[in-house]
Amino acid sequence: MSISRKNREFEMTDRDFDQIRTLASEFTGISLSEQKKEMVYSRLARRLRALDISEFSDYISYLKSHERQELGNFVNSITTNLTSFFRENHHFDYLKSTVAPELALEHKADKKIRVWSAGCSTGEEPYSIAMTLAEAREFTSQSWDVKVLATDLDTSVLNHAKQGKYDFNRIEGIDTTRKKKWFEHHQTDNKGVFQVSDKIKNNITFNQLNLMNNRWPMSGRFDVIFCRNVVIYFDKPTQRKLFDRYADLLNEGGYLFIGHSETLHGVTTRFKSLGRTIYRKVH
Ligand SMILES: C[S@@+](CC[C@H](N)C(=O)[O-])C[C@H]1O[C@@H](n2cnc3c(N)ncnc32)[C@H](O)[C@@H]1O
Repeated sequence: MSISRKNREFEMTDRDFDQIRTLASEFTGISLSEQKKEMVYSRLARRLRALDISEFSDYISYLKSHERQELGNFVNSITTNLTSFFRENHHFDYLKSTVAPELALEHKADKKIRVWSAGCSTGEEPYSIAMTLAEAREFTSQSWDVKVLATDLDTSVLNHAKQGKYDFNRIEGIDTTRKKKWFEHHQTDNKGVFQVSDKIKNNITFNQLNLMNNRWPMSGRFDVIFCRNVVIYFDKPTQRKLFDRYADLLNEGGYLFIGHSETLHGVTTRFKSLGRTIYRKVH
């Protein structure tokens, strides 16, 4: 049903919503269901206000004619960026206890470990990966060369991620030892901002990357890819294409971690499931 002007600030007709859906899918791969209409309305209403536009149809025309200026805002408005430190903690336990020691053995000569956090949002995921690998490294007292690539389409979350600054409520779930070790905090109470330490930050490169782009700029291969809670917004053919590209970019036997409500079952056969949304490349 259309959202009408009678009780709402802006009118969004079914046609407007369909056009928004098409543009979202084309630009980001995100497929917006009918249930997302209210969410789309409230997020894009901010853009209409900011641009002083009174109709959704005018906004769509503006977006099409000013793609360079507006596409970024449109994309940032429709992405869902929910994340947290050590989200789905069993992934980080597995990374530390199984993947890291195995890679350290395999890569004895160059000690390189390469990880990609695809759809990193505000950075909690790549920082959790780098912290986990730093802890695993300390445990074995080896000097690994760890590099984490962290990418997202949304430039506003990426800017936050690059800064590595988090309010107390974002990090309160992290245990005290970790907090003390990997964050700098200059106040005696729990207020204020916590800054991820340079020891961790220096292992991460943040870049904007649209997973829908036909060409990705990376040349080397990865040992591990985290792409969690991203493909849930994509349709199956888009997911299949993406997972195929991940398999091509992973080293033999490389690992793929996906989100708790995602699955590769019926999507691709290039990975085998190790359980609990952890996968290993088979071909
Ligand atoms: C819900 S967050 C997941 C964050 C983190 N991976 C986690 O699981 O906590 C999904 C992220 O995927 C990003 N995203 C959505 N479509 C994308 C695309 N086509 N290319 C790159 N990133 C995309 C969004 O901007 C958002 O930050």
